[in-house]
Amino acid sequence: MTNKISYLDLQAQYNNIRSEVLAALDDICESARFAQGPVTAEFEKAFAAYCGVKHCVSVNSGTSALHLAMRCLDVSPGDEVITVPMTFIATTWAISYTGARPVFIDIDPDRRTMDPTKLEAAISRRTKAILPVHLYGQPADMEPILRIADRHGIPVVEDAAQAHGALYQERRVGQFGAMACFSFYPGKNLGAYGEGGALVTNNDEYAARARTLRDHGQSQRYYHDEIAYNYRMDSFQAAVLNIKLARLEDWNAARSRQARGYSELLSGLPVKLPTHYRDSESVWHCYVIECDQRDEMRSHLMEMGIETGIHYPIPVHLQRAYASLGHRPGDFPISEEFSHRCLSLPIYPELTEEQIRIVAQVVEGAVVRQSVSSN
Ligand SMILES: Cc1ncc(COP(=O)(O)O)c(C=O)c1O
Repeated sequence: MTNKISYLDLQAQYNNIRSEVLAALDDICESARFAQGPVTAEFEKAFAAYCGVKHCVSVNSGTSALHLAMRCLDVSPGDEVITVPMTFIATTWAISYTGARPVFIDIDPDRRTMDPTKLEAAISRRTKAILPVHLYGQPADMEPILRIADRHGIPVVEDAAQAHGALYQERRVGQFGAMACFSFYPGKNLGAYGEGGALVTNNDEYAARARTLRDHGQSQRYYHDEIAYNYRMDSFQAAVLNIKLARLEDWNAARSRQARGYSELLSGLPVKLPTHYRDSESVWHCYVIECDQRDEMRSHLMEMGIETGIHYPIPVHLQRAYASLGHRPGDFPISEEFSHRCLSLPIYPELTEEQIRIVAQVVEGAVVRQSVSSN
């Protein structure tokens, strides 16, 4: 039994920013500007600049951001939106909220994101948008996706919920699609102290429409232009995000070092490691290995005090919520196999080199145990 290594340690992060956070929250209480005050505007400006885009519309979750992106594109019943089944289910909630149908294509087994070679065949007359996911912080292969989308005149929306600051061909994610959506759920690379999200775009009309839709459809107070939502971000979250955004580059760099550490220490073992790409820089929201006896490996790690995650155990097309789509096991074999083999190792900026070494050693020990017991 090693000392416990948790999957994520938000208390450790808080300890490093505590006095700044408490002062900022106190300022908001003193100002009594709790909803969408100046602090929210400040965060929007800073996050748009960070992403390298014109507009950031802050909202109350990544799910809301995705929903607004679908609404901005007028996605409606009868339409189809192409996405991947290996994602967090919120990606497809946003499609379903509009009454449209999610159409899945499988992932590339190495990049673990939308396989562009499968995209063209999935496009139909009804396709209203394409929604790739930058899963685990790894950007999807945007160049071929955008090329195909452009040829068909179909807008692309990036689900960047897990990829704040990730680079593809030296540009930050968020700049590639008509819009991109981020989550600031607490465990994300940039996480609020509650719920939060943002839609970013270079398009003035989408930004204006998203701002109206998040605020009861009013462009002027008490004049409501269309049926809309209360998706506003509260000022506490914006204050925390302002403080954390200033540290995001350092935190992402720490994750990157940790990922390299894992990849070096685990190379040569019979587990499949994530690929480090030349065309992109992942921000390592998750470090996900694939192993044959995943559940045994997970139990062994747990016995040794190491927490892991499974992202995700059931691909979206096989979730009960989507039974009405009529998918069967085997429809998206790469996602399905991946869901049985994936294991997320602890990764967060405060994790020490020594802890990375311990996790790698325990993984190695589990592999040796498994090979002995199967002989
Ligand atoms: C890929 C992906 N899309 C969408 C979301 C939804 O974000 P939120 O939880 O902020 O609604 C998340 C986060 O949980 C996610 O990981």
